[in-house]
Amino acid sequence: MEPIKIIQDCDPGHDDAIAILLAGRNPRIQQLGITVVAGNQTLDRTTVNALNVCQYLGLDVPVYAGCDRPMIRDKVTAGDIHGKTGLDGPDFAPLTRQAEKKHAVSYLIDTLMASDGDIMLLPTGPLTNIGMAMRLEPRIVPKIKRIVLMGGSFSYGNVSPAAEFNIMADADAAHVVFSSGCPITMVGLDVTRKVLCLPSAVERMAKIDNPAGRLFTDLMRFFNKTQKEVFGWEGGPLHDPVTIASILDPDLLKTQPMHTEIDIRSVQSYGRTNCDVFGYLKKEPNVDVAVDIDVPRFWDIIEQGIRNYA
Ligand code: BDR
Ligand code: CA
Repeated sequence: MEPIKIIQDCDPGHDDAIAILLAGRNPRIQQLGITVVAGNQTLDRTTVNALNVCQYLGLDVPVYAGCDRPMIRDKVTAGDIHGKTGLDGPDFAPLTRQAEKKHAVSYLIDTLMASDGDIMLLPTGPLTNIGMAMRLEPRIVPKIKRIVLMGGSFSYGNVSPAAEFNIMADADAAHVVFSSGCPITMVGLDVTRKVLCLPSAVERMAKIDNPAGRLFTDLMRFFNKTQKEVFGWEGGPLHDPVTIASILDPDLLKTQPMHTEIDIRSVQSYGRTNCDVFGYLKKEPNVDVAVDIDVPRFWDIIEQGIRNYA
């Protein structure tokens, strides 16, 4: 079977880092490139974080820095969850590698335009790079095989009662992407909140004696400390790797097609993914929304992903 070609668009971020780990060294995935965006931290920090993760794991996938701010709204970060660097916890050796010269948006456009329509995009941060690429070169839209993104929620948010961080951080870009006509799977809080990285999961992965096991453990111990401080939880939701796990195992998620629009107008629910769960609007569904997840299966996929770094 041909490996699945992917580009990961991310803002590492602890859970973004685990998504990179999960895709790297997986024989069923061909990680073409990593594009980075501002989100959990500023762009300079998220770019260094992506490079540190790749260097630590020995992944030679190219890393491209992209947009350093949202399309229109003011920049927001998530330092309370991911620390000052955006990836607090592990000690990384001095960086010997650099980001590519090309801007992430140009890389996305050039790579998609030269492709046979066989590349999936896996965004796990604000959708600025992808929205900008779609606006700059609309002919990329039919070239994208599918977008499997972490973001949104059909129930409630995590940065406001209505909105999830990645969508709220650049709701205009999310609007461009969600209304593009591209096939989209939305992996939102409704499912990612079910995969809590409890201490038992950390201990399970800590037993795997390889660089990936060590990175997972160092990252998750810090992540769980902030989850406890901010939310009072014993283990935080491991949001972003669910995207990668879902393309490895098509039975992992249960999805439902829904018409989905981004709220870019209201104050209280700004950034909400308005998913028409019951089809009130009689509009064509444009998003496959994840509604359930097989949790034990997810943790097996994570364990295997770590073991791939034998
Ligand atoms: C999303 O926000 C970020 O803090 C995480 O990395 C994840 O992508 C969850 O709302
Ligand atoms: Ca993220």
